[in-house]
Amino acid sequence: MRIYRAQNYEDMSHAAVQILSEQIVRNPKAVLGLATGSTPLGIYRNLVDWYQSGKLDFSGITCINLDEYKGLAPAHPQSYRYFMEEYLFKHINILPENTHVPSGTAADGEAECRRYEELIASKGGIDVQLLGVGPNGHIGFNEPGTFFPRETHCATLTQSTIQANKRFFEREEDVPRYAYTMGINSIMQARKILLVASGAGKAEILRKAFCGPVTPQVPASVLQLHADMTLLGDREALSLM
Ligand code: GLP
Repeated sequence: MRIYRAQNYEDMSHAAVQILSEQIVRNPKAVLGLATGSTPLGIYRNLVDWYQSGKLDFSGITCINLDEYKGLAPAHPQSYRYFMEEYLFKHINILPENTHVPSGTAADGEAECRRYEELIASKGGIDVQLLGVGPNGHIGFNEPGTFFPRETHCATLTQSTIQANKRFFEREEDVPRYAYTMGINSIMQARKILLVASGAGKAEILRKAFCGPVTPQVPASVLQLHADMTLLGDREALSLM
């Protein structure tokens, strides 16, 4: 595992874009696994800038997102599909058919999870998976206690995640209680993993996840076992490591 200590959020975002861009430039048909949350926003801003200044071409790139709230339609402003369109997809030349987010409104949830796994396999797997981390150690929506061998599934959000994510909704009651998420196994299949974290609020969970034992109680800790894992944090996030 490599650990990069960035000075601040801007440095962190810039370093992440360099890692992602290397993949895009070396392989114009790369498959990127993408994440939502506040942490990747600076990365998406930089990717858009780099695209607009002619440094990146997304015409052959495929993006496969980690997760989506169950019950939210793509046009819902808090859906992860909406987030990705707003902050990345609509600003770059990626083909719409090459952007993938689980469907939050699929009539048959189990079929949707199977479809998502088949989709990842049909694209040849994920070249680089971008991840954030929840305050309780979740990656995607794999909450503490998730069985490591799980693939894409419908997860029940913990109270801690509902609390952490309610800032995006008008009322706490509006936060969906379930979400579709790639499983730990799906994430671990990616050829390369890049986890980004910023701010003092992530310091304790990073210490537990990367200096403590590998345990389903801290889902991100499984990443210690990945052969090509980079943790990229700013000074505050890495302050306890
Ligand atoms: C959500 C997402 C995660 C993300 C986490 C952290 O719960 N499902 O994929 O990593 O939030 O978000 P933030 O970057 O806003 O701290």
